[in-house]
Amino acid sequence: MSPATPTAPAERTLRTATTNGRAERPIIAMRHISKIYATGEAEVHAVRDVSLTIERGDFVAIMGASGSGKSTMMNIVGCLDIPTQGWYWLDGVDVRLLDEEALAEVRSRKIGFVFQAYNLIPRTTALANVELPLAYAGVRRQERRQRAIEAIEAVGLSERMSHLPSEMSGGQQQRVAVARAIVTNPAMILADEPTGNLDTSAAEDVMRIFSRLNADGRTVVLITHEADIAAFAKRVIRLRDGQIVEDYRASAVTDLPPRLGVERTIRTVGSTG
Ligand SMILES: Nc1ncnc2c1ncn2[C@@H]1O[C@H](COP(=O)(O)OP(=O)(O)OP(=O)(O)O)[C@@H](O)[C@H]1O
Ligand SMILES: [Mg+2]
Repeated sequence: MSPATPTAPAERTLRTATTNGRAERPIIAMRHISKIYATGEAEVHAVRDVSLTIERGDFVAIMGASGSGKSTMMNIVGCLDIPTQGWYWLDGVDVRLLDEEALAEVRSRKIGFVFQAYNLIPRTTALANVELPLAYAGVRRQERRQRAIEAIEAVGLSERMSHLPSEMSGGQQQRVAVARAIVTNPAMILADEPTGNLDTSAAEDVMRIFSRLNADGRTVVLITHEADIAAFAKRVIRLRDGQIVEDYRASAVTDLPPRLGVERTIRTVGSTG
């Protein structure tokens, strides 16, 4: 047991002012979050007393060495795992008050997940893979099909809609996985090393898609080992031994994502020449 249990922060700490002066709830507010795994006689402190606020519309990269607690943090953020201690409000909702069914509902409505292994259903077309979350959500067939087609178009794979995962490259499979994550129109995308299995060019394609999704207003939180990938984010958080040891903001939440901004500048400069 910890010697002093901190008291719950006041509700007002969940409000931050946006640049236009409107008070808005952060999408993520964590206070004193810890996760302890009990393995036999040893305890592993995977996350230690982390407090973190993420504003709506931010693009955050979480970095850190293997075993530093990145996936554990991400799983807590995504309500896939519950912390041992601490408070977590997701979009203003105290997740401690939710039962398993309510958590599943929050996950499917608010969050799109992308993992390092694309986790597509084999022997099932790209389109059917992308339709799946909508089927779970009870969306009827025709609308499901239409929305899945739009999501696949958004990741630039219209030509591959009826391909099976085994008929696509790693980068294409990951783009299908991104389409599947966005088809439910979630406010937040969580990605655990989404480019970990991809070569540089495929990784950049995926990162450009995340940048566009963020420019469209979605909050993106991704884990990466690579500085080149983190350079796409507006804010970089570094973990060591389950604690935040660095929290660096590269550009404002309300700005375009950095790399998308660069591309647009180059295009603008090019068009004047
Ligand atoms: N289910 C579990 N049971 C026991 N210990 C765990 C469990 N999951 C993670 N850990 C431990 O918690 C610590 C943090 O693990 P985590 O998976 O969050 O690290 P990570 O930063 O994502 O690492 P990587 O970069 O290798 O994916 C590690 O020491 C790990 O061994
Ligand atoms: Mg991990």
